[in-house]
Amino acid sequence: MNATIMLLPGDGIGPEVVAEARRVLDATAARFGHTFDYRQGLIGGCAIDASGAALPPETLELCLSSDAVLLGAVGGPQWSDPRAAVRPEQGLLQLRAAMGVYANLRPVRVLDALADASPLRPERVRGVDMLIVRELTGGLYFGRPQGRETTDGRRSAVDTLRYGEDEIRRVVRMAFELARGRRKKVTSVDKANVLASSRLWREVTHEVAADYPDVVCEDVLVDACAMYLINRPADFDVIVTENMFGDILSDEASMIAGSLGMLPSASLGEEAHAKAQRIEGAKEEKHAASSLPLRPGPFAPLREISSRPGLYEPIHGSAPDIAGRGIANPLATILSAAMLLRWSLGLTAEADAIEAAVGRVLDAGGRTADIARLGEAPIGTAEMGERVVASVSSVAATLAA
Ligand code: IPM
Ligand code: MG
Repeated sequence: MNATIMLLPGDGIGPEVVAEARRVLDATAARFGHTFDYRQGLIGGCAIDASGAALPPETLELCLSSDAVLLGAVGGPQWSDPRAAVRPEQGLLQLRAAMGVYANLRPVRVLDALADASPLRPERVRGVDMLIVRELTGGLYFGRPQGRETTDGRRSAVDTLRYGEDEIRRVVRMAFELARGRRKKVTSVDKANVLASSRLWREVTHEVAADYPDVVCEDVLVDACAMYLINRPADFDVIVTENMFGDILSDEASMIAGSLGMLPSASLGEEAHAKAQRIEGAKEEKHAASSLPLRPGPFAPLREISSRPGLYEPIHGSAPDIAGRGIANPLATILSAAMLLRWSLGLTAEADAIEAAVGRVLDAGGRTADIARLGEAPIGTAEMGERVVASVSSVAATLAA
């Protein structure tokens, strides 16, 4: 296969982790006989410095005409003056909106090898396998009016939390479709005891649930959900929630997996959903045909093959405190690249191979500083990338044998 992949390294540790993901993609392409053509562009703080815009038009154009987009991170202290007219994060929000990627899939799985990297007790986090589906192009992030004003010398500011029923329905439907390929349980998270938008969310969710009698649906209030994530994380299968709740809960959930540096994400739009439905039947056959002589990839909760447009990014930020030191964990970005192969390019075996490779490196004790055990010498960003590259080759060799 020939595919065009747009790279957006961004700010902070973004360039370091994207470089490792690219090496893993190259190794995978070489092993499986594909050609990936890369394009690269500026987004976020580096784009503001270069051009004044957080998402320059030429970057957007390249993204929209690529098969998939892999992004590192945006933001940093030098651009975070609250009074700045342009902010790095605006570039990311504009990109998500322009690509129409309304569903952000954030799988959280605990690998046995990392059960002791979580601040939670290992017996509590072992076996956790959840998928957070975060609405990505609506809610507080995009509602208008938004901004600040000064009246009679007093400052005030406003953000708007607005959801239309169609916006809710499409992302909730995606969650139910995904649950069908998993343990068939959807937890819809809202704040319906206070917010009107949450009451609409709940109403629409129940309408969608009626079409999926085979999937269990539960409503959980967001404050309670924050608690259940800590005291019974293994109970969750698919969680679906609005934009800001999903942002917060997914960072919390990353601690179950041991580190923010482990969590990948895929942001998908309309076509992806349609395709997932179309291939519903074909899927079973395809998986039977490609049964791997390996244990399933540790990050392979998403069985459907999807389609463009897709935006793939680690859930962590630009980590300016460790940027440029070569110590960041590149695994979230490498696993995002695996999701890219699975969802935008339909390369299931290749995605499985990367996920299995990551699992093997961790099983063998490879740990960056964020997941290293006390007294254990951590490896750097590039070394972790190299180990995954080597492991992809040996996984692929096992496959071919
Ligand atoms: C994330 C990040 C972004 C978000 C920021 C950088 C705008 O926190 O992807 O979770 O809030 O969506
Ligand atoms: Mg976030």
